[in-house]
Amino acid sequence: ARPVIIDCDPGQDDAIMLLLSMASPDELDILGITTVAGNVPLALTSRNARILCDLAGKQGMGVYAGCSRPLVRPLVTAEEVHGKTGIDGIEITEPATPLQSRHAVDFIVETLSAAEDNAITLLPIGPLTNIAAALIKAPAIAGKIREIVLMGGAMREGGNTTPSAEFNIYVDPHAADVVFRCGRPIVVMGLDVTHQVLTTQARSKRIQDLGNPVAQAAHNMLAFFDRHDVQKYGSDGAPLHDPCTTAYLLKPELFKTKACNLQVEIHSELTMGHTAVDFWHVTDRPKNVEWVYGVDSDGFFDLLTERLGRY
Ligand code: BDR
Ligand code: CA
Repeated sequence: ARPVIIDCDPGQDDAIMLLLSMASPDELDILGITTVAGNVPLALTSRNARILCDLAGKQGMGVYAGCSRPLVRPLVTAEEVHGKTGIDGIEITEPATPLQSRHAVDFIVETLSAAEDNAITLLPIGPLTNIAAALIKAPAIAGKIREIVLMGGAMREGGNTTPSAEFNIYVDPHAADVVFRCGRPIVVMGLDVTHQVLTTQARSKRIQDLGNPVAQAAHNMLAFFDRHDVQKYGSDGAPLHDPCTTAYLLKPELFKTKACNLQVEIHSELTMGHTAVDFWHVTDRPKNVEWVYGVDSDGFFDLLTERLGRY
């Protein structure tokens, strides 16, 4: 199984990503789950990650709390999408999975430092603060990274937080800038692809019909998550952003990607956090990412449903 570290800010779509990942031990060896401030403040994302470990029956998983605010800018959260708890839709109780005392950035630095070159895959699905802080603290860890598969950014779709910017990149554009310059292979799941992965009622019902408690919890979270987009945009259901990262590792053939240059806007207040993707190769800037622009969304939901059926 491929060793991975998941860096998250749950968030219902983060929650589904965690459940999908923890249901896939043949492919993924989860070394630890690190949390960051994003959808809700750090104390809540850290508690939520532990609730998800409880739900998946993985109380032994190492969960490490990281940075409580972005590198430069003040924290922006998204309770209007995710609810006050971050994972509205399920019952919140004090988790049995403990919070580790080590800081997430130290966990990332120490785990990567002890690894072989090219060994570890990072799966960031929130603002990139922890990953950037680790790269700043210990630049030599870059060589230990096999690949970064992250959720963030937007090109054709435009932004979901400002007209120009997607939430994860908008919240910490300076961190994103550090990560996109790290020189390692990066696969980017932006809104161009995640907006193709909609949790329609039929898809959510298939998950509920699996009949196990984890699938029921997933369905309940999705029902809450959906209502925001259905009410605001009149869409069929909410985009399941974060699980696209794990799905890519499990079944890359579901996705269409193109090697591109990507740079993050960190100067203009108007377009702060915009991801400038050179999709048509109109510059000779180095190709630093695989930009994902297409997905077989039925195939994605077949995979997710099959994995949730394992609980
Ligand atoms: C991203 O922002 C968060 O609200 C979601 O969890 C996802 O990671 C989508 O823009
Ligand atoms: Ca997220």
